[in-house]
Amino acid sequence: MEDKIKQIKEEFKEKIKNKSLKELKELEIYFLGRKGKVSILFQFFKTVPKERRKHFGAKINELKSFIEKGISTEIQRAESIEASRKLEEEKIDVTLPGIKLHTGGLHILSQTISRAEDIFLSMGFDVMVGPEIEEDYYNFEALNIPEFHPARAMQDTFYLSKKILLRTQTSPIQVRIMEKYKPPIRIIAMGRCYRKDAPDSSHFPVFHQIEGLVIDKKVTFANLKGTLSLFAKRMFGEEVKVRFTPSYFPFVEPGAETSISCVICGGKGCSVCKNTGWLEMGGSGMVHPNVLKNVGIDPEIYQGFAFGWGMERIAMVKHKIPDIRMFYQNDLRFLKQFKG
Ligand code: DAH
Repeated sequence: MEDKIKQIKEEFKEKIKNKSLKELKELEIYFLGRKGKVSILFQFFKTVPKERRKHFGAKINELKSFIEKGISTEIQRAESIEASRKLEEEKIDVTLPGIKLHTGGLHILSQTISRAEDIFLSMGFDVMVGPEIEEDYYNFEALNIPEFHPARAMQDTFYLSKKILLRTQTSPIQVRIMEKYKPPIRIIAMGRCYRKDAPDSSHFPVFHQIEGLVIDKKVTFANLKGTLSLFAKRMFGEEVKVRFTPSYFPFVEPGAETSISCVICGGKGCSVCKNTGWLEMGGSGMVHPNVLKNVGIDPEIYQGFAFGWGMERIAMVKHKIPDIRMFYQNDLRFLKQFKG
């Protein structure tokens, strides 16, 4: 018995050296746990003759408290080593420069759309929206473009079924608004349009338009000219002029192509305006009586004007962006230049 106690003490002294916190906890169980070395000694204790029991009892208890003490001192030591190691590791250098947070910004197209909306809102227009997945009826038929009309060829698009398509223009919103609201109407509508165009520097299968529609009694072409001239001045600068040249769009009569004086050369002629002095922005005209009739508005009482300009075109001219594809390439070097 005596030997056994000694042996355990020696084993403990040997094992306790240089142990980590985790190993110390394991040692604690190994010696003092329910099935540990010391507990087993207590079992042997029963076999010891009665008169020796007191002696051995004291010895075992002594061993037990020796081990307990030893372990707890070692645990304390290991804990303080662990704490200072952590402190050392997690030291914060408060003199280091901070990490710059990257904040997002609005895409240049979104910024241009907001600007256009603000201008028209200040002129008393309401801002409306319409569906991008559109019915053939609204996109063509109701706009005086029947099934075999050649104007459809210029606006080939993506069909979801025979009569459902991705809108080629924002003009169908005109019809939807006139069906829903009685004149006077004064709205703009913006949004994505789709055409089966091969991408090049000025075409992309997805693009945005801004559509305008005014319906009232005594609306004239002069109102159209005044409205677009004011918009152009607010958007591009006071010196900018708008030019109307006769053109054909089935849903207006008369119809006009609208251009602004070149913002690069001031109208003298340069490579951007191909030496014409003018930049084409979109179509416009007086709403065709057939369109009014289609929505039950009497063309003898009401007239109106409409226009549709390309949003990318506006942004390209305003910010001198040379290629429409840049809007959709998500190149941060491009986008960051217009961080708004
Ligand atoms: N929707 C036409 C297009 O995409 C542009 C247009 C022309 C819109 C004349 C109009 C308009 O509102 O009156 O080619």
